[in-house]
Amino acid sequence: MPTELLYLTDSYLQTASAKILDVQDLNGQTAVILDRTVFYPQGGGQPADQGRIMGELGSLQVSHVSYNSGEVLHNGQLEGQLSVGDEVQLVIEWPVRLRQMQWHTAGHILDQAVKNTLPESKSVDGNHGIGKKLYVEFSAPIHAAELAAIQDQLNSIIEANLPITFEMVTKDQLVERHIHLPFDLPGNKSLRIVQIGEYPPMPDGGTQLHTTGDTLPVLVTGVQEKEGKYRVVYEVETVVPAPSVTSQEELPPVQNVTTTSQTQSLETLVTSIAALKQKLESDLSHQEPDLITKYLGKKGHFNELAKLLRELSTSDRRQAGQVLNELKLNLETKLHDSNPTAGSEPSWVDLTVPGITPPVGHMHPISQAMEEITGIFERVGFTRVRYPEVDWDWYVFTALNMPPNHPARDEWETFFVAAAASPDKGQMVLTTHTSNGQVREMERLHSQPPIRMINIARCYRRQQDATHTQMFHQFEGLVVDKGINIQNLKGTLDYFAEAFYGPGTKSRIRPFHFQFTEPSFEVDFSCHICNGTGLVTDPDTGENTKCKFCKSGWHEVGGAGMVHPNVLKAGGINPDEYTGFAFGWGIERTYTLKQGLNIDDIRLFYSGDLRFLEQF
Ligand code: PHE
Repeated sequence: MPTELLYLTDSYLQTASAKILDVQDLNGQTAVILDRTVFYPQGGGQPADQGRIMGELGSLQVSHVSYNSGEVLHNGQLEGQLSVGDEVQLVIEWPVRLRQMQWHTAGHILDQAVKNTLPESKSVDGNHGIGKKLYVEFSAPIHAAELAAIQDQLNSIIEANLPITFEMVTKDQLVERHIHLPFDLPGNKSLRIVQIGEYPPMPDGGTQLHTTGDTLPVLVTGVQEKEGKYRVVYEVETVVPAPSVTSQEELPPVQNVTTTSQTQSLETLVTSIAALKQKLESDLSHQEPDLITKYLGKKGHFNELAKLLRELSTSDRRQAGQVLNELKLNLETKLHDSNPTAGSEPSWVDLTVPGITPPVGHMHPISQAMEEITGIFERVGFTRVRYPEVDWDWYVFTALNMPPNHPARDEWETFFVAAAASPDKGQMVLTTHTSNGQVREMERLHSQPPIRMINIARCYRRQQDATHTQMFHQFEGLVVDKGINIQNLKGTLDYFAEAFYGPGTKSRIRPFHFQFTEPSFEVDFSCHICNGTGLVTDPDTGENTKCKFCKSGWHEVGGAGMVHPNVLKAGGINPDEYTGFAFGWGIERTYTLKQGLNIDDIRLFYSGDLRFLEQF
């Protein structure tokens, strides 16, 4: 059931009550789904909220919130107990949300400022704080020289204190009102748009401030080109304390007196700034040491001046904030230009501070599986080899008893390489299986058994869906010697099953057909979740239910068989003297079975998405 998103209609709502619809355990973390929420799930460039969900018997410290097809998942650490049906109180961490709202609204104001400056520009993306990045991305060039004009526009939108309003609309209404959408929208869905003053509305699902004046001074800090797109990067200042209701209530009742002193303060501020600028020029010309700390340090001149803000009225404060920001920018550029290497580091070093640990990567899960499989076979005398992944038809098919035009080739969904064919080895193909290594290994050993090969390589087939990637990995075993029989094959498979999946795992072979083995088998391993029974027993009720992982007690993994005499002949080995067995299958599947991973899309392995890969 979808979660009702309370923040869509009221960005300032900090608490609510809700009912728990689902509680999921995710390896020690808990995810709670509610019928309604005030928590903003990460998206649209805005980071997720944090906060607490409190029930009678327990509470969840919410550290991340995500959106999944209509449902909002509140993830975090559970203390005590929360159960389905519980009525709970929600409260978000308001300072965090307020900051994120300031970032988000600032992004929209900046977007408008760019459009005011360069009417042709179109924004295509934005980030308002995720990973501490703040930018709006445009499809057409924006030059550094234009940033000053953009900053002016931005300041005037903030100064004008324009209202920010929301509306729910349908696609048809959007078209009628000529509203530009940066992406396509399904016809029947209603969508929220946000509007700054009278500027054209924009689609937006985030939380926004009431007015543009509610944000803090926003600074455009640069523009970066990234793959043909232009990111205008910004910062939201923290120097001006947000005008808070309580501080106004605490003001002394004698207003007249305050006003006079406030006027003086504004003047004092302006004169002090002028004086400070002069002092800076003189300090710079005398090459005084430690100027960055003296001016911009925690107890530096700038912060001393910024303290004057507290004495100003709310309306003066905004103006003063801007003047101060300009001063800060000015100080930064001057000081850094004069001493570019010094940065803003302090002049002393605290040797007790622990160092920054560099991020350490690890092997890709499939490489880890390859290492492990290699180790298992090396322990019993196999030699790991690798053969070309772009190979001649001869090794991939013909030598494996699949002469040209043989129908069995059709099963192999082959990619052919547009290169000149070899007169005796035929066309080049991307290897569809590691069996091309069989005859190559016989040739490497000059047709002299014994052979104990483990060949691990990438393979390619014209198939791409949730359970197939066009590139995948196989491992292939080949043993050829005098007197090799099916028992040796079965023993090897049993050995691998226990070594890879754990003690007690069994293998099973079932009759099948491959051109290059006779007899041929399909290989299954017993399921290590239900120990090959297909049933799991509920520890509380003692009731047996079907094992969800295997459904039958066994997992089919690949193929095997006794090497066909024609294959031995192709490798120059006399089939009357020697026999052999071979087996081979995919590493991706073998690995996910072992981990009990219910990965419903194996393409994830090759997506390069660190959030997935870092779990292994
Ligand atoms: N090459 C076969 C496949 O890719 C598997 C196999 C290997 C079968 C070795 C028998 C012997 O499906």
